[in-house]
Amino acid sequence: MTPQERGSLAVFPGSFDPITNGHLDIIARGLSVFDDVTIAILINPGKQALFTVEERVEIIREAYRGEPRVTVDTFSGLLVDYAERVGAAVIVRGLRAISDFEYEFQMALMNRRLNPRIETVFMMPAEGYSYLSSRLGKEVFQLGGRVRDLVPPIVERRLAEKYGAKAPPAAPRRRARRAR
Ligand code: PNS
Repeated sequence: MTPQERGSLAVFPGSFDPITNGHLDIIARGLSVFDDVTIAILINPGKQALFTVEERVEIIREAYRGEPRVTVDTFSGLLVDYAERVGAAVIVRGLRAISDFEYEFQMALMNRRLNPRIETVFMMPAEGYSYLSSRLGKEVFQLGGRVRDLVPPIVERRLAEKYGAKAPPAAPRRRARRAR
């Protein structure tokens, strides 16, 4: 199959420990530009993670069940080597705020130096996700906060299993104000 027949493929790399609605938002935006998106989880034994790589793959598969344009994979070594190996010409990264910029800029330029055939494309999530990260999602859940609008349902369930706790109940509905 030629690359043209295969369509355009973008790689969306990251740790995804765990995937959040912010990631889902970027993936949806990626799908509006590219034919297929591969979520590529970095195997990084040096980094302490809550979910194993296998668990993260399982969670993402579940979140994207029935969506043939999204696949999940793992990689180690250089990201650009992985992208080239799977036939992706584009790396998609989310850019939430100015604070992301310097790290992302360095990474994009290093990746370009390593392989100028692979382009990095940045996408901005919906404003409501601009302060969301996997780390904060975990912290909020662990401290009993509500993560329902921050992570997909499968992640909320898996967080509850991990922390041996029930997911916090939905916030009580506000009583309607009585008309004066
Ligand atoms: O979600 P994260 O942790 O911000 O993702 C970082 C990731 C996985 C994209 C980055 O660490 C990466 O690409 N690692 C692979 C190693 C690599 O290619 N390094 C050289 C380019 S900077």
